[in-house]
Amino acid sequence: MNMIRCGDYEALSHAAAEFVARQIKEKPSSVLGLPTGATPLGMYSRLVALCRNEALDFSGVTTFNLDEYYPIKRDDRQSYYYFMHTHLFSGVNIKKENVHIPNGETADPEAECAGYERRIAQSGGIDLQVLGIGQNGHIGFIEPGEALESATHVTALTPNTIAANARFFESAACVPTKALTMGIGTIMRARKILILVSGKEKTAPLQALADGKITPKIPATILNAHGDVTLITDQPAF
Ligand code: F6R
Repeated sequence: MNMIRCGDYEALSHAAAEFVARQIKEKPSSVLGLPTGATPLGMYSRLVALCRNEALDFSGVTTFNLDEYYPIKRDDRQSYYYFMHTHLFSGVNIKKENVHIPNGETADPEAECAGYERRIAQSGGIDLQVLGIGQNGHIGFIEPGEALESATHVTALTPNTIAANARFFESAACVPTKALTMGIGTIMRARKILILVSGKEKTAPLQALADGKITPKIPATILNAHGDVTLITDQPAF
């Protein structure tokens, strides 16, 4: 695992955006896997600036988001659909048809997950998967101790994740209890992985990841079995 230690969140965001920009410049038709959450916000705003000011070109890029709450309406301000359009897609020249986010409005979530996997495969697979990490070591919505399902699937959120995400909703009771998420196999099939770890709440999962062990109790540790992972952290996390 390549580790890049940054002094603060701003430096982390800068390094992460440069990493993604390099991928797009090297392969303009890159397929990117993308996360939501607080951690990538700085990276997204920097990518928007790079697109505006330095003509970083998203016109050939395809994206697949890691996950989406279920059920949730696209126009709900807490949906990942809304998040991604607000923080990235509205600010870059990506083609609408190249943006993929699991559909939180579907009546048939199992079929949606199977179709999502098919679309990833048809696009040629993910070149660069960007990840955040939960305080409990989750990636995507793959929660600790869960049987490590390989493909995109429907999952129940743990009380820990509901509590952590309640800050974005009116109350914990308003957080959807399920999600559609890429599976471990979906993530591990990405050719390259970039994981961003920021803040003192992430020290424990960061330590587990850096130890090199693999345990389903801390899903992110599976990344130690991938051959091309870059970890970018900031000072408070280590
Ligand atoms: C979001 C996602 C989650 C987050 C994780 C960290 O799409 O898949 O695994 O990456 O919960 O969230 P933040 O960055 O808000 O700490």
